[in-house]
Amino acid sequence: MAYLEIEGGVPLKGKISISGAKNAALPMLAATILAGGGSFRLDNVPRLDDVKLFLELLTSLGCWVSWKEADSIVIDTDSIESCVAPYDLVNRMRASVLVLGPLVARLGRARVALPGGCAIGARPIDFHLKGLEAMGARLKLEKGFVEARASRLKGAHIFFDIPSVTGTENLMMAAVTARGRTVLENAAREPEIVALGEMLNQMGGQIHGLGSEKLVIDGVSSLNPVSFRTIPDRIEAGTYLMAPAVTGGELVVDQVNPEYLETVIGKLRLAGLDIDVDNSAIQVRKRGRINSIDITTQPYPGFPTDLQAQAMVMMSVASGLSVITETIFENRFMHVAELRRLGADIRIKGQSAIVKGVKRLQGAPVQATDLRASASLVLAGLAAKGTTTVTQLFHLDRGYENMEEKLASVGARIRRMEQQQV
Ligand code: UD1
Repeated sequence: MAYLEIEGGVPLKGKISISGAKNAALPMLAATILAGGGSFRLDNVPRLDDVKLFLELLTSLGCWVSWKEADSIVIDTDSIESCVAPYDLVNRMRASVLVLGPLVARLGRARVALPGGCAIGARPIDFHLKGLEAMGARLKLEKGFVEARASRLKGAHIFFDIPSVTGTENLMMAAVTARGRTVLENAAREPEIVALGEMLNQMGGQIHGLGSEKLVIDGVSSLNPVSFRTIPDRIEAGTYLMAPAVTGGELVVDQVNPEYLETVIGKLRLAGLDIDVDNSAIQVRKRGRINSIDITTQPYPGFPTDLQAQAMVMMSVASGLSVITETIFENRFMHVAELRRLGADIRIKGQSAIVKGVKRLQGAPVQATDLRASASLVLAGLAAKGTTTVTQLFHLDRGYENMEEKLASVGARIRRMEQQQV
């Protein structure tokens, strides 16, 4: 069983380059299902376990995929023949559900395993299903699968009760070749959705209002394959921006789009970090102890839930009391028990965590509970005095490319150990 061993307390200094965004790459991979007649090329794709699983899913559908160079993939979906996303894959990666809309649009039929709950909450997919139904798909739920059929989907007016990222993406992909106009209201506005929309428009789609909460999609009869580059991973960038806050030192985080991180940068400045923003790089410096600030997670452009656990580590060593409120997922405080093992003073009250900053965390063995929680434990280990070990690394490997190499390159004492932990 692999684990990370971290000797904390070392200030970081240097530059970390950010990879392509997993949450942009996955829907883009799903979008390749929409067009045969040639090859897609996706660039700046991170080599992460979730990406590899998605490629496995595409291959199981009958598509052809091949990595070129370090971060480019060529995909040909001409030979797609299956419409089934099996439980084994959906269970390991919820984002597999993104094939639902594209499969119905391309093949007229999809059979996708229903994802169960996950470590951070129930996470239903009812918005995806209701939207497809409104677009004329006939749905059947049986034996843990949803089966959707439609000879051609038709445009519809759909309102999201809550903005859903993959819900918006799934319905946008379903609508792009539907007959007539689809309007998605209260849609999510994350940069990854805008990037997917731009790719679909380059393929010949007619999507208007990208980046707003109202998307108007005029269905086209066919789409064509394209070459496209994924956007930088704003969550990976945000994670590294928080590192000097807990270790001291200064970092340049580059190959980023600072616009995606405006809210996060605003919060980091309030916490007392010095931040300089360039076109595609952000420099962060710590001066003195971090101030406690309150944080509430919100859909984009609000503070991302995917950086909540990391921000909590920052507040664990800040100068006062902070209230961190999670509004997106109902069970996203699994990291709290692990952070307490390192000496953090955190109480949960309903949707909020009340964090009283301590001077120093102390190293201890901890266990990752979900993807972003695992990154928070690495940050906590870097901050703590002594040795921290982080187990259950499969969570981390789903979403952070070469994290230990990137951190070691800026001075962190961190290494991956493959042996059984004693
Ligand atoms: C995506 C991201 C994930 C991020 C999350 C919130 C991907 C692959 N994953 O997940 O990293 O943490 O956005 O920014 O991009 N909901 C329903 N019914 C639905 C769909 C969602 O009730 O059909 C609820 C969810 O339970 C949650 C909220 O809506 O409370 C937002 O979830 P959603 O945006 O859909 O998250 P994901 O797309 O799964």
